[in-house]
Amino acid sequence: MILVTGGAGFIGSNFVLDWLAQSAEPVLNLDLLTYAGNLGNLAALKNDARHVFVRGDIGDSALLARLLSEHRPRAIVHFAAESHVDRSIHGPAAFIQTNVVGTFALLEATRAYWSALPKNEQAAFRFLHISTDEVYGSLGNDDPAFSETTPYAPNSPYSASKASSDHWVRAYHHTYGLPTLTTNCSNNYGPRQFPEKLIPLMIVNALAGKPLPVYGDGQNVRDWLYVGDHCAAIRVVLEKGVAGEVYNIGGNAEMKNLDVVHTLCRVLTALRPGRDFASQITFVKDRPGHDRRYAINADKIRRKLGWQPVETFESGLTQTVRWYLDNETWLTNITSKAYQQWIDLQYAQQ
Ligand code: NAD
Ligand code: DAU
Repeated sequence: MILVTGGAGFIGSNFVLDWLAQSAEPVLNLDLLTYAGNLGNLAALKNDARHVFVRGDIGDSALLARLLSEHRPRAIVHFAAESHVDRSIHGPAAFIQTNVVGTFALLEATRAYWSALPKNEQAAFRFLHISTDEVYGSLGNDDPAFSETTPYAPNSPYSASKASSDHWVRAYHHTYGLPTLTTNCSNNYGPRQFPEKLIPLMIVNALAGKPLPVYGDGQNVRDWLYVGDHCAAIRVVLEKGVAGEVYNIGGNAEMKNLDVVHTLCRVLTALRPGRDFASQITFVKDRPGHDRRYAINADKIRRKLGWQPVETFESGLTQTVRWYLDNETWLTNITSKAYQQWIDLQYAQQ
């Protein structure tokens, strides 16, 4: 079996669902169920014995040791993290705790488990660390896209914590020989994303007739990766990636935020005719330290492992919007009191 951390969150749950749709191999899913974790994401697996869910913290060393010795995974795919930049600006401590200290605890427990494996199982074992393009910092309009050798220059508390975790993973490979893999990907979007991130937040606000809050001048650029394409890339890296290597994953879809929101409004109008969603766009105060541009050079994973994204931004976005329109109960459950408190804190003064 494989151990997945953070498998009740956005990307983790999509990965677990995809994995079990394509493979008979069971998944042990360790997730703390923070505000971002949601068992509703995994409802389709309720009666599936191949999915074993454990609520727990990646920082809990005793729990990790027990789970590893009981379940004996052949690989770990590590998604669990605090993942929202704006929250990291309001409260960075949780980001150090989970992303740095938690990843360290997971690496230590993995090292102990892996060291005691027979040699052939040690060689086949993989620790796949899911990271972000934000560790590379911010690009100017004419700069080349981030490659795997771009120097680290994290700018937000979130990206600093992810950069730190990447360095710990690298050190465990270099020092102990732990067979690690690291992926750095761009902005994911798709079903089951918590509506604090740009695209689902805009969908929720648009449908509710609320303002669509664009930070600053809306000219910041992100590369957009459909979550299904990301899950396929992770499977390929796990299967064929070379231990110790880093792979950048991108969606071939660099866009300015304002263009993203206008495209989203067009898709929404096509699916819910008769409403002018774009009239809800409102410019609000910028995010402090807001990175201007991210762009991914994904040549390495394409050349070495044969992966490239299948979805265009339009096709991925249409599937995403349809999913949100078809899953009103999921949305109602998620837009709870705690969610409303976050929205009040982040957007109140705007
Ligand atoms: P998410 O916030 O939707 O989910 C994170 C999950 O981790 C939640 O289920 C949460 O309950 C769980 N978790 C948090 N702290 C935990 C802890 N201490 N122990 C166990 N579980 C814990 O995040 P996501 O968007 O799915 O991102 C997954 C990973 O991918 C993260 O490592 C993130 O940094 C990385 N990433 C995300 C994106 C993106 O666009 N969403 C892009 C690049 C990289
Ligand atoms: O690049 C990968 C990263 O993408 C991941 O590592 C992070 O986990 C993920 O959250 C995401 O970070 P961003 O900060 O780029 O994503 P977010 O959805 O928060 O914002 C996307 C862009 O939209 C960014 O330029 C800020 C802007 N934005 C965001 C929100 C929430 C707005 O203009 N208005 C908003 O209300």
